[in-house]
Amino acid sequence: MNIDKKIAILTGASKGLGSAIATALINKGAVVYGLSRNMDALNELKNILGNSFHPVQLDITNDAAITQWVNNTFSENYIPDILINNAGVGSFHKIDETEADTWLAMINTNLNGMFYITSKVAALMKKKKESSHIINIGSIIGKVGRTEATAYCTTKFGVQGFSESLYIELRPFNIKVTCMNPGSIETDFLKTSGIASHTNMLHTVDLANTLIHILETPDNMLINEITIRPLNPKPPTH
Ligand SMILES: NC(=O)c1ccc[n+]([C@@H]2O[C@H](COP(=O)([O-])OP(=O)(O)OC[C@H]3O[C@@H](n4cnc5c(N)ncnc54)[C@H](OP(=O)(O)O)[C@@H]3O)[C@@H](O)[C@H]2O)c1
Repeated sequence: MNIDKKIAILTGASKGLGSAIATALINKGAVVYGLSRNMDALNELKNILGNSFHPVQLDITNDAAITQWVNNTFSENYIPDILINNAGVGSFHKIDETEADTWLAMINTNLNGMFYITSKVAALMKKKKESSHIINIGSIIGKVGRTEATAYCTTKFGVQGFSESLYIELRPFNIKVTCMNPGSIETDFLKTSGIASHTNMLHTVDLANTLIHILETPDNMLINEITIRPLNPKPPTH
C-alpha cells in the first residue's frame, strides 16, 4: 500500500507506541484519526503533527459511542484504509490478588474494544475494492505465558486468535490483517506495575517504522504475524 493520502484510524494515539505510530503515518502522508480518552494529550499531538491529525476523544470500551462516531465520520464515499488497534491496558498481579475490576478493565479494553471498532470498520472496508489493512497490537505474552499476568496474557492470546481468524475471513475482500507482537517497549505502560523502562527495551520509533514497512508491502503479500523482541531484555549495567 502507498500510505500517502490514505485514511487511518489509530486507537491509543495519545502516548507511547500510539503517538509514535501517529507520527510515522503522518510523515508518510496519511490522514490519521487518533482515538483516546485524553483529549489534552491528543490536542498536544495535533499541535506537533498538524491538520492531518484528527484528535478523537473516545473510550473504546463504549460500543455505542464507537458506532456513533464511525457512522458520523465515515460513509461509502469515505472509507478508512487502515485501522491500527493499539489501545491497551495492562497490570500484573498474582491470580489470588487480581480484582474482578482489574480483570474486566483488561478484557473490556484489549478485547472488547478491539472487537467494537473492528467490526464497524471492517463492514466499511469490505465495500471497497482497493486494499485495506488492519493491524492489531498484541504482545510477546500473547504467545508465551508469564507469571502474574493471567488477565493480560488472556487478552493478548485473544488478540492473537482474533487476528488469526480475521485474516482468513477478510483476505477475500482484499483486507490484510496483521498481529504485531512486541516484547517490552520503552513506554510508561509497565511503570504502573512497578516495572521501570530502560533503553534495552524496544523503542517506539523502531516499532512504528516496522509497522510502516508492513503497511507498505505489495498488495499481494501479507505479513499476518510478526514477533519483535529486544535483543537483550535486561537493563544496561552501565
Ligand atoms: N509497553 C510494553 O512493554 C508493551 C509490550 C507489548 C505490547 N504492548 C501493547 O502495545 C500497545 C501500546 O502500549 P504502550 O506501551 O504504548 O502503552 P501506553 O503508553 O500506556 O499507551 C496506551 C494507549 O492506550 C490508550 N487507551 C487505554 N485505554 C483506552 C480506552 N479505554 N479507550 C481509548 N484509548 C485507550 C491510552 O490513551 P488514554 O489513556 O488517553 O485513553 C494510550 O494512548 C498496547 O496494546 C499494549 O498492550 C505494550
